[in-house]
Amino acid sequence: MKADIQTIVILTGAGISAESGLATFRGPDGMWEGHRVEDVCTPEALARNPVLVHRFYDERRATLATVSPNPAHDALAALDAAWPGELLIVTQNVDDLHERAGAKRLIHMHGELQSALCAACGKAVPWTQALPPGTVCAACGQPRLRPDIVFFGEMPYQMDVIDEALRRAGLFVSIGTSGAVYPAAGFVQTARHAGARTLELNLDPSAGSDYFDETRLGPASLLVPHLVRDLLE
Ligand code: APR
Repeated sequence: MKADIQTIVILTGAGISAESGLATFRGPDGMWEGHRVEDVCTPEALARNPVLVHRFYDERRATLATVSPNPAHDALAALDAAWPGELLIVTQNVDDLHERAGAKRLIHMHGELQSALCAACGKAVPWTQALPPGTVCAACGQPRLRPDIVFFGEMPYQMDVIDEALRRAGLFVSIGTSGAVYPAAGFVQTARHAGARTLELNLDPSAGSDYFDETRLGPASLLVPHLVRDLLE
């Protein structure tokens, strides 16, 4: 598979962290206190009920201390370290399991749990504790720090960098995502138009399976190490 590939773009979703013990969004455990993510992760929800929204992310941030990267994160980090060409891991996940496994060429397109963003001045700062509404931003003094998460209706991070990499990709791999949320769900089509080979690794067929050259079904902890061995041998 690897002979003619220079640039690899990898998209990951909640499925890659499922075997580490983090719930996916749209699976059976995908509800939180009876709320759908779509009802919590919006600017309107933040304005209407900041206590609820901040608590949702506080709980998820606290959970990070109880989980570890699994063999799928480890394999991608090994690929990142060893791949001689261009490589970009784009994750929709807000956990830090890719970087704890050692991945470096990584973009968190939907933000990060361990970051706080000032809604007044736009500065982001590392954040590992609970984040109550009204927390003051050290940079501008306004009580406007919020979770540094891209809510539904907000623009994901670094789309220009991602788009350029997709247009150069020789291989695009999507791992553990349901393909329900754009723009990530459209990356396969951008890569395809650019001539990339497209491969999906997922537990179940996703909304976008038809757009991929190949879909391999199974747990990420088995499929990803296998793919990485293939690419590096
Ligand atoms: N291995 C591989 N895939 C898995 C595994 C596993 N062990 N477990 C679950 N999956 C698959 C599911 O079959 C599903 O297709 O992972 C996918 C998870 O889908 P979602 O819960 O919809 O998560 P994701 O696609 O990452 O959601 C996208 O939606 O709520 C927003 O911003 C949030 O980034 C998130 C975005």
